[in-house]
Amino acid sequence: MVLYFTGTGNSRYAASIIARITGDELVCMNDLIRQRITDPYVAQYAFDSDRPFIFVSPTYCWRLPRVVEQFIRDSRFTGCRKVYFYLTCGSGTGDAARHAEELCRQLELEFMGLSSVILPENYIALFSAPSFDDAQGMLRAAVAPIESAARLMQLEKPIEDPNGRSGAAGGKLNSLFYKLVVKDKKFSATDACVGCGRCVSLCPLANISLENGQPQWHGRCTHCMACIAACPEDAIEYGGASRGKRRYYLSAAGRQK
Ligand SMILES: Cc1cc2nc3c(=O)[nH]c(=O)nc-3n(C[C@H](O)[C@H](O)[C@H](O)COP(=O)(O)O)c2cc1C
Repeated sequence: MVLYFTGTGNSRYAASIIARITGDELVCMNDLIRQRITDPYVAQYAFDSDRPFIFVSPTYCWRLPRVVEQFIRDSRFTGCRKVYFYLTCGSGTGDAARHAEELCRQLELEFMGLSSVILPENYIALFSAPSFDDAQGMLRAAVAPIESAARLMQLEKPIEDPNGRSGAAGGKLNSLFYKLVVKDKKFSATDACVGCGRCVSLCPLANISLENGQPQWHGRCTHCMACIAACPEDAIEYGGASRGKRRYYLSAAGRQK
């Protein structure tokens, strides 16, 4: 079973390639996380598979996103105990592998390895996204390494991370990052907003509502960049940091915005 979380489409892209090779079912964590927040009657999620579980997600500050880690901790996995992690990243995954291995140890799951692939940077609150053409090149170049990792996962062989850095101070940095940076106060809609509600429907944490036709953020943000990147009018800004920057978003059909 391939379970993916995505903000701007890269991890869905990687997960689809993996599932095509392994023949596994593809499950979107975004929908399930959102459902759990909006419906108090949703019970603990339970997944059963006789094949390894494969988690695909972006890298957030050299680790699995906290929402993904929490989802794994809150869910029940039965059948196969083997678990793989496949991260998409803009440049590197730091100590994500060590952290994912520790998570598996705590949950008594068998860590089969973490690997990653470099895809277009989406974090326009801090960095810049590549040009349309550069992003197309990166998406094309990523297919072969994703497929090779998927073949190893299909054979239940170990995988290793070409973009990791063991010994990276991921833990301390990650805590500071969530405490100081991951906030939604700087998001706002400009006059270009037409109140279409795409940001509302895409937010995996159900953190956005329309008030008088304009989006409002409610403090439960994980900085996935879905709202700002997918807005059809480019009408969302992150303070001054996003002004004039290209938005990167890859649709489920594999097309860049
Ligand atoms: C909050 C946040 C933190 C990020 N941290 C990292 C990082 O530590 N290392 C890295 O290489 N890329 C980092 N990125 C870039 C994303 O991991 C990368 O663009 C990823 O492919 C986006 O996946 P998605 O389109 O599935 O959301 C970060 C992006 C965001 C939004």
